[in-house]
Amino acid sequence: MQIIRTRKELQQFALAEKRSGKVIGFVPTMGFLHDGHLSLIDIAREKADTVIVSIFVNPTQFAPTEDLDQYPRDFDRDAALCAEHKVDVIFAPEPEEMYREDASTWVTECELSKPLCGASRPTFFRGVTTVVAKLFLLAQPDFAVFGLKDAQQLFVIKRMVRDMDFPIEIIPGALVRDSDGLALSSRNRYLSADERTRALSIHKSLVEARKIIENKGLDAVSEAISGAKEVMTAAGGRVDYVSALDIDTMKEPTAETRQLLLAAACFFGTTRLIDNELIDL
Ligand code: PAJ
Repeated sequence: MQIIRTRKELQQFALAEKRSGKVIGFVPTMGFLHDGHLSLIDIAREKADTVIVSIFVNPTQFAPTEDLDQYPRDFDRDAALCAEHKVDVIFAPEPEEMYREDASTWVTECELSKPLCGASRPTFFRGVTTVVAKLFLLAQPDFAVFGLKDAQQLFVIKRMVRDMDFPIEIIPGALVRDSDGLALSSRNRYLSADERTRALSIHKSLVEARKIIENKGLDAVSEAISGAKEVMTAAGGRVDYVSALDIDTMKEPTAETRQLLLAAACFFGTTRLIDNELIDL
């Protein structure tokens, strides 16, 4: 396994792999890897000749008040896990390597990125789309794997790829949970034991809400959402949003909606967690 630290070296490596006919699979991450990330790496390993994983805590997707400095990092552990999962290359640049000091270009998706996390974190998605566009041009993947844990992010990336004609297939990976139902996240590290127990209410309440919508249909969406908010609040959470949107438009569902994203963001202590359920209509 190679560890590459510079943009130039990664792009030269990737272009040479392409010229020799290799299929490149790419998994972008911010590191502190858990089984959710590893499941995406395993999908890439199945399908690709060359698997590239990026580990980069991307400063442009954090607002000044957010947790950029505290974000958990453990490169040696991540590298060992990548080696175990047969990754070929880890790309781990420093922020100064990734972004020139006077960089002045953003890649912005202007529709699907507006609600949910885009409403609470107004500069988040432009940071994500900008870094992912750069990573795509550096890693030159044939396909890239993104987790359904961050469903809105996956839809935004798919839209960016479509609109900008990146010749890259976006493959979704299932949301991986702990045995008690908590969605795996690097940020779970911030939770006290008590907060972690209370945070189980996120998944529980979304599953309940999902049942209500599945049984009663779209008319019951607001009842289902209110119920979920109550359960999280009663568990001591501070709800950021609970919302059910059409996955194709990220707008309120209509008679044409084929799948609903029922998504929640909720704070336990100072930690903001997100989770979701996809509901076929
Ligand atoms: P990060 O939060 O590290 O997640 C990297 C990838 O792992 C994303 O595609 C995310 O959806 C997926 N992932 C995280 N937790 C998961 C889980 N429990 N089950 C399945 N997949 C999971 O998302 C980012 O980093 C960044 O925004 C990034 C795309 C790397 C751009 O900086």
